[in-house]
Amino acid sequence: MKRTLGTCYYPEHWPEDIWAEDAARMADMGLTWVRIGEFAWSRLEPAPGDLQFDWMDRAFDTLAQAGLKIVLGTPTATPPRWMLERHPDMLAVDAKGRARGFGSRRHYCFSHDGYRAEAVRITALLAERYGRHPALGAWQTDNEYGCHDTVLSYSKAARRAFRDWLAQRYQSPEALNRAWGNVFWSMEYRDFDEIELPNLTVTEPNPAHAMDFRRFSSEQVARFNTAQVETIRARSDAPISHNYMGRITEFDHFATGRQLDIATWDSYPLGFLEDRLEEADAHKRRYARQGDPDFQAFHHDLYRSVGHGRWWVMEQQPGPVNWAPHNPAPLPGMVRFWTWEAFAHGAEAVCYFRWRQAPFAQEQMHAGLLRPDHAEAVGHAEAAAVAAELAAAPDVETAKAPVALIFDYQSAWSWDVQPQGRGCDYFRLVFEVYRGLRKLGLSIEILPPDTGDFTGYDLILAPGLDMPPPDLIPAIAASGAQALFGPRFGSKTDTFAIPVPLPPAISGLDVVVARVETLRPDMPVPVAGGGAITLWREHLEGGAQVLDRDADSLPVLVHAGPLHYLGGWPDPTYLARVLTRLAGAAGVPVQELPEDIRIRQSGPTRFIFNHGPDPAEFEGTRIPPAGFLRR
Ligand code: GAL
Repeated sequence: MKRTLGTCYYPEHWPEDIWAEDAARMADMGLTWVRIGEFAWSRLEPAPGDLQFDWMDRAFDTLAQAGLKIVLGTPTATPPRWMLERHPDMLAVDAKGRARGFGSRRHYCFSHDGYRAEAVRITALLAERYGRHPALGAWQTDNEYGCHDTVLSYSKAARRAFRDWLAQRYQSPEALNRAWGNVFWSMEYRDFDEIELPNLTVTEPNPAHAMDFRRFSSEQVARFNTAQVETIRARSDAPISHNYMGRITEFDHFATGRQLDIATWDSYPLGFLEDRLEEADAHKRRYARQGDPDFQAFHHDLYRSVGHGRWWVMEQQPGPVNWAPHNPAPLPGMVRFWTWEAFAHGAEAVCYFRWRQAPFAQEQMHAGLLRPDHAEAVGHAEAAAVAAELAAAPDVETAKAPVALIFDYQSAWSWDVQPQGRGCDYFRLVFEVYRGLRKLGLSIEILPPDTGDFTGYDLILAPGLDMPPPDLIPAIAASGAQALFGPRFGSKTDTFAIPVPLPPAISGLDVVVARVETLRPDMPVPVAGGGAITLWREHLEGGAQVLDRDADSLPVLVHAGPLHYLGGWPDPTYLARVLTRLAGAAGVPVQELPEDIRIRQSGPTRFIFNHGPDPAEFEGTRIPPAGFLRR
């Protein structure tokens, strides 16, 4: 496969007489793709029904003449102001009951039927007009579902739809009362119409209520997406994608992924380091100009799975961004480095956000490949360098990694609904396990919990999975792989209750979680042999063989054959011991890497990346900062 590059372009931001030159410059530097359209609704339809597609036709033709291929975004993340006249109640409402108004973007509620119909209408018009255009290479639905906290909406439309959803799911208020345990605090309902959304309660709402609202809200995103997908498919054969984000867990990306042909994501390594990670200041300082060594890789691997192998970076940070608490410039070479890291993980394409820095409006301080004065910005040369390298380099081969890590959006919601201790966060735990595996030199596949067939994996990890599907244990057992479950495995029923028999109830592994406690971060419980349990601690009972005990002699890690259970949140030192032990049992070779080094095995090729600010030594070779080896 030919790996390709592209950029995000907003022809509506620039005078038409510079489009042709822009397009020629994109083609000259070796770009293949240009994504347009995703925020252009007010120019496509300035007033209701006043369709102005001529400029878009000309943009298509200009870009096509330069040989570029177009990714067309549906503009539904930015409905024009007039839409609010038509649908005054289309806005999302926050948990405090305030409407999230016009004047930026994503000002709509996923549950609003009228707005969904408008989204389908504009999508149909675009698909009719451009669906068979020879320059159209792919579609993008909307833009970054969930960005700016927009999945959960407490609007009247959401309430109406939630009541219907509950009625479908439970059939009768009595069944719902039983399932949720509403006898507690006299929360029983006589009618589905009595049920409010789980906000504005005096203290926390029933977690079963909150959990169902999370499931419902996720399904509303999938429903909104599928309406566009069906509309496009009826009119176009081009593949359809959506651009996901970093550490967004409010909706099930595997569900939308099943509707789409390609998963893309928007990678802003420096913004994410500052904004999306719990790491200590020293870590953020060390990686301030390179980004976290594992965060991008985690999402590359996650979205490879969401896209069934087909994935892109749709927006790659090209210089300083505007939205994090601090917005430093990347180290020279990082734009090239990030691009190659994505290819090493199997990206088909990497597109830079954005072509030219806009001198106006919200993102005027966000770098592009060009400066506002049209001169080349720093990222331009690096992107052009990758284009030249791609032309000369052999393709990146892909092969399944032997290690599988399960990632489950439903668990992210249930931990969020009932964390039981500050800092207890599902993504954080799974990401720490991912980081632990990477520090041992491993390459990883991230899989959804409903993966039915684990053939070919030697090591499978399911940290924090609290509502596992019933077929998971048999499927993992059938694979014969070494497997690690816990903490919190199977600790909730579907309707958010504690199951009896008590968790983890893994057949073939005699262990019971008799008690749970959460710990202050400054009270870790040491584990004999090194490392500690922190934040979350389970007291384990049962006959399974104990592999590790803590300072109180309580079992921490137990097993029966290949099935292992870990009764707590491991600190990095103990995690490394657990993972090394399991990898050993699985026959997967590990290699303790220097602090800044990470490896991605792509088929026969090993990519070795130095994420640090200084040169690093690896197997006798010196790798400069922002450098990598391909072996
Ligand atoms: C993304 C978004 C883009 C732009 C970019 C800035 O989240 O999709 O439209 O806002 O961030 O970094």
